[in-house]
Amino acid sequence: MTQSSRISGFYNLSPSERRQIVAEWPAWSAEQSAAAEALLAAPGGLTLEQADKMVENVVGAYALPIGVATNFVVNGRDVLVPMVIEEPSVVAGASFAARLARAGGGFHAETTEALMIGQMQVLEVPNLEAAAARINSQKQRLIDLANSTDPVIVSLHGGARDVEVRILPESPVGPLLVVHLIYDCRDAMGANMVNTACEALAPLVQEMSGGRVNLRILSNLADRRLARARCVVPAAALETAEFPGELVAQRIVEAYALAAVDPYRAATHNKGIMNGVDAVVLATGNDWRAIEAGAHAYAARTGSYRSLSTWSFAPGDPGAGPALIGSVELPLAVGIVGGATRVHPLARLALQIMGVQTARELAEIIASVGLAQNLAAIRALATEGIQRGHMALHARQIAIVAGAQADEVDRLAAAMVAEHQIRAERARELLAELRVGRA
Ligand code: MEV
Repeated sequence: MTQSSRISGFYNLSPSERRQIVAEWPAWSAEQSAAAEALLAAPGGLTLEQADKMVENVVGAYALPIGVATNFVVNGRDVLVPMVIEEPSVVAGASFAARLARAGGGFHAETTEALMIGQMQVLEVPNLEAAAARINSQKQRLIDLANSTDPVIVSLHGGARDVEVRILPESPVGPLLVVHLIYDCRDAMGANMVNTACEALAPLVQEMSGGRVNLRILSNLADRRLARARCVVPAAALETAEFPGELVAQRIVEAYALAAVDPYRAATHNKGIMNGVDAVVLATGNDWRAIEAGAHAYAARTGSYRSLSTWSFAPGDPGAGPALIGSVELPLAVGIVGGATRVHPLARLALQIMGVQTARELAEIIASVGLAQNLAAIRALATEGIQRGHMALHARQIAIVAGAQADEVDRLAAAMVAEHQIRAERARELLAELRVGRA
């Protein structure tokens, strides 16, 4: 039986009811489901012993909410997407936009090979052109040496692929030669293997160039490790009580247009994409700072900072109605082996819930979530504004701060939203009134 990630009413269930659905989602035994449920129920999912092995000077573990986005179809497969994030509206926004995209067949995503770039900075080179020519003519020696540092990745059909040389004629310390090692990381993020290889190559690069190697480190501008996602949303699916679908589609395209030409808007537009991207990156124990660095550097690759996504309107042929077409492209250096992806029990579980078998599949889901998040944000901005939905969720948080119990939170939040007063002080007054009314 094919499962559907379109779980109607998921939002209205209690956390334990949601947990049960999510823990039973992967095709595994009743014992595995029970273990997954127990893991999700323990806040943070990380013991102090596990935390102590991850970083230095550990004194505790810091928990964030893990929500699950519904409605996603990525490359024809229904997926539930775990998202770790502190910001309200993000999980709801992703689920909502995934439902819109679902009406047009979901997301179609693809990735390039998992090629990372390791950089070696070479200074004091007597003759830059001659050094570059020497390195280029002896690439294979460097590739072979790099591959001798990690026979495991080579046995998995990964490892060093190429060597490239760049001459930077000017820098604050004079001319530089930069040697790039192109390395296929397969299912790993790859920072460790690339850094190890670069350190191993440094003496040979010095010998070939006659210079001195300083930095030996991977680049987070992973522009050979791209993920792309695309969706076609029928305009009819965008219709609201106030706006016809075609108008919403056109306004979304207008919203995108500003991000396409203006860095002030592009930064915020891309932040919306990264709300979705980072939440899945974090849920799977991947390095979100690396992803952030790569995404923003990629957004600025032309010399001007621009939108990572595009949105256009297709009026439709006779067979197909008008539609909104979205696409996103960004570097996504994520792994499913090594580091926190293996050590953190919730990161492992997140990968199992999504049923991903390769890092490329994970990147395809992440790109789709980024595009969905972007759609949710600009659809709201281009229609009713984001504050309405945001304030409803914010009101729930204020209700909790004001001391509302679980069965009081929704009523108190609704009362604050109704009178457009979402403040802790007013929440306390309304809570007192609500309790008197009940006594
Ligand atoms: C807020 O976290 C994200 C948005 O600002 C994104 C956007 O403006 O597109 C709503």
